[in-house]
Amino acid sequence: MPKTLNSTQLADAKIVFEQMVALKRKTLLYPAQHPELLDGSKRLHRSLSSLLDQLGDITYAMHDDDLFIESELLIRESVTYAGFIKECAAMDIGAITFLKGIDETEIEALMDALCTDRQTLENEGGLANRLKNRGAPNIVISSAAAEADDIEHEETETKAAKEVYNSAVTAVKDIMKSAKIGQGVSVQKVEKIVGGLTEALFTDHLNLLGLTVIKSYDETTFYHSVNTCILCLSLGNNLSLEHDKLAILGAAALLHDIGKVNVPKDLTTKPMPLTPEEFEVMKRHPIEGAEILSQMPGMHKLSMVVAYEHHVGYDLSGYPKLTNKERPHLFSRIVQVADSYEAGTSMRPFKGSKLPDQVLAEMIRQSGRTFDPVIMKAFVQTLSIYPVGSVVLLDSGEIAVVYETNTADLARPRIKIAIDENGKHLDPAEAAILEMSERTENAEAFVRSIIRVIDPWELGIDVVQFF
Ligand SMILES: [Fe+2]
Ligand SMILES: [Fe+2]
Repeated sequence: MPKTLNSTQLADAKIVFEQMVALKRKTLLYPAQHPELLDGSKRLHRSLSSLLDQLGDITYAMHDDDLFIESELLIRESVTYAGFIKECAAMDIGAITFLKGIDETEIEALMDALCTDRQTLENEGGLANRLKNRGAPNIVISSAAAEADDIEHEETETKAAKEVYNSAVTAVKDIMKSAKIGQGVSVQKVEKIVGGLTEALFTDHLNLLGLTVIKSYDETTFYHSVNTCILCLSLGNNLSLEHDKLAILGAAALLHDIGKVNVPKDLTTKPMPLTPEEFEVMKRHPIEGAEILSQMPGMHKLSMVVAYEHHVGYDLSGYPKLTNKERPHLFSRIVQVADSYEAGTSMRPFKGSKLPDQVLAEMIRQSGRTFDPVIMKAFVQTLSIYPVGSVVLLDSGEIAVVYETNTADLARPRIKIAIDENGKHLDPAEAAILEMSERTENAEAFVRSIIRVIDPWELGIDVVQFF
């Protein structure tokens, strides 16, 4: 019989699930016995044990994309962890039950089984069997009743932030291709992409944010759409938007430039500033976008509003002219900030590249006019002074990539060294994460400090390799 959990137990059970998803992801990234993994399984074991002390056992069930804790359907988590739920379905896992008395080695065995490829699992008689053979008596796997849908699995099987990112770009390409020939945009597909990005963002936050430094000359709109979506999800989260609102915001951000499918490609990739006539054509994309989206059954109304308003300023500058309201919608204002930053830091052929901190500084100057000041403040916090993916020169003579923000001290992020003090390029795969808050032995000074942000292109650093 499914049991009923009180609100504290339910909250704890959600944390356990979140830790499980995060640990699974880390298991794919790190070698066995890596401290990150040991630490993760220790934490998961601790949370799980205190829950099992009260409940005796707990079951996480997954049916048709939905997650249940005991009999409670978790709508928000079903979207957030869509990728993980799909992966479980692909491995014929309908439910995972944990029993009191579970130890850390059993958790490690579960993670190992979850990360084993399908063929090997099949050879071993399935995941439940593999787990049994590895000696995990306190984990019970029930098989999925629902039939697996191979195509869907292919779309959502995700291993790491990079894969989530790449599949989002491919999916956006498909969506835009369909829109171009007048075919419908699948709302479900959009929700899946946003769900996958949200899950990756919350479990693998910095890696995904770091990937937004990926830009492309030829396929600007696809990468730009995914980058804007990730920035909006992160920004929306900082603005404390609830998960269901975040999903709507993410979808709107992903589709904000869909009207560009009706702008001739030579205009979107033109290597010079647009002529006034060309700019008039370009200015139609918000209207065209809203029109395209209005034809899509099931599309949330706000996607159209955002597509229509994303080039309108906080002070109603920009285009098209809004005549019936004092401000664009909150979601339009969020997308406008993320969109402007993303476009500003993109390598547009005629603009040359701009460094993230320069773009941010210019935007801060426009705060309260072009940009909503509250959103700008949250955005600066989201990106921090040295946005993840920036390249910085250190007083040690080394050059480093900003890997992770340090919320306790924004001027001292976590970094990875790209070029050593002798000018030698280091292997990104080997680069350790260094704390800029680290002090010298006598604690009088910092080991390293940032002198300034520099342009990675000049130095031939491929920032993406560091994430
Ligand atoms: Fe746009
Ligand atoms: Fe845009």
